[in-house]
Amino acid sequence: MSLPDRRMILATFIHNSGAHPGGWRYPGAASVDQHDFQHYARIAQTAERGKMHVYFSGDSQGYPHISGKDAFSATDYAGKLEPTTLLAALATVTRHIGLVATASTTYNEPYAIARRFASIDHISGGRAGWNVVTSASDSEARNFGRDLNMDHDARYARAEEFVDVVRNLWDSWEDGAVIRDQASARYFDPARVHQLDHQGQHFKVAGPLNIGRPPQGHPIIVQAGGSGPGRDLAARTADMIFTAANSLDAAKTFYTDMKQRAADFGRDPAKLLVIPSVQLMVRATEAEAKRADAELLDLVPEALALRTLQLQLGTDLSTCSPNDRLPDIALTNGGQWVQQQIIKMARDEDLTIGQLARRVVVSRASFSRSGTPEQIADLLENWFREGGADGFSLSPNYLPGGLEDFVDQVIPILQKRGLFRTDYEGATLRENLGLEKPANAFVADPTLGREPTIWA
Ligand SMILES: Cc1cc2nc3c(=O)[nH]c(=O)nc-3n(C[C@H](O)[C@H](O)[C@H](O)COP(=O)(O)O)c2cc1C
Repeated sequence: MSLPDRRMILATFIHNSGAHPGGWRYPGAASVDQHDFQHYARIAQTAERGKMHVYFSGDSQGYPHISGKDAFSATDYAGKLEPTTLLAALATVTRHIGLVATASTTYNEPYAIARRFASIDHISGGRAGWNVVTSASDSEARNFGRDLNMDHDARYARAEEFVDVVRNLWDSWEDGAVIRDQASARYFDPARVHQLDHQGQHFKVAGPLNIGRPPQGHPIIVQAGGSGPGRDLAARTADMIFTAANSLDAAKTFYTDMKQRAADFGRDPAKLLVIPSVQLMVRATEAEAKRADAELLDLVPEALALRTLQLQLGTDLSTCSPNDRLPDIALTNGGQWVQQQIIKMARDEDLTIGQLARRVVVSRASFSRSGTPEQIADLLENWFREGGADGFSLSPNYLPGGLEDFVDQVIPILQKRGLFRTDYEGATLRENLGLEKPANAFVADPTLGREPTIWA
């Protein structure tokens, strides 16, 4: 077989002790204290052993729903290390893998976020990435001075401006602005440091940032919302989009749409990487894989499944029976893409609420499959070749075994087929993803900003 001219991107999306809510109880899983840094260090090193591109830590700044705390007490959702802090620590125990964390544009300020990811990029030698999310839940709003979440479209309008300000802050110091000329007492060249004086609808930010330009120029920008405004934000600003697609058809439709949107913004579509999430169970035989899947699902209480479904749909189903079909559901102010995918799945497959809840509690709207290493490799190859994905983000069901099985049994097959690299090619995450370092906006456009007056 001839080598394909493109290779897969592989990320791993790490939830505390596994993405599956039964994962922490699975007999093959280590008993994980999700506050224990050594657990994450081991995971990141395993992913790096597999030459994976990205270790991804998602985030939300609130507990799912305090009214559902009985049901959620069956999960390990509570108790989570703040992800940018975790990435900074992981940078010191890894050398190659990209380190991506979620940070919300709704409940943060651009200066603080620009500074934090610039710091991780420096600490890691150019391996940082920021997953831009707009925060879907009221439970986050209530921790930041609001009763309800900001409206969906308003969140995205703020996110658009937020990302622009962050990128300009990263550019506020040109590459090489720090000259450390002892003889002339010039630590930096003031002509190469720029003030933004940004005044927009949402933010007023003078700049410059108080840290030099990140080694990658800009840490990688990832986006994970799939609504219209979410897709546009990604198409204009992101290097990578994480998505949930539960069939090859859905993945292809999404992929084609994202590449078109990127082109509409005047970008090279190949530079916006479309990465669906997958949850996989790998075993020596198909029967064993199916059995392991069923064992995991048995560990999830029904009340948790029903609560999770309601959370993802943004709707109260307490008056329905698990044997009912889904009623009509209004568009949520939370995550709209995932909500619409779940509703479609219920209608297409004529599922009861109980059946749907058992699907959704496992993988939300993402693709979930069990099989032998060859079957899993076939599946990934098919999605990749058929135009459904530039690569995949594996959410291991349980840890560390779920990741180890993939790294030790599936990746070697992908490598043998020429679909995945056998070593890191570059030093930075951008280089390893085949993405260029962005030009500095202040160098490209000298009318932008001005020399800082803050020291005057
Ligand atoms: C793979 C994947 C990862 C995601 N990670 C996060 C996360 O870490 N934090 C978060 O608040 N939302 C996360 N989201 C959800 C979306 O970013 C979220 O629903 C967004 O707020 C709005 O989505 P929408 O554009 O579909 O309405 C993730 C979604 C996907 C598909």
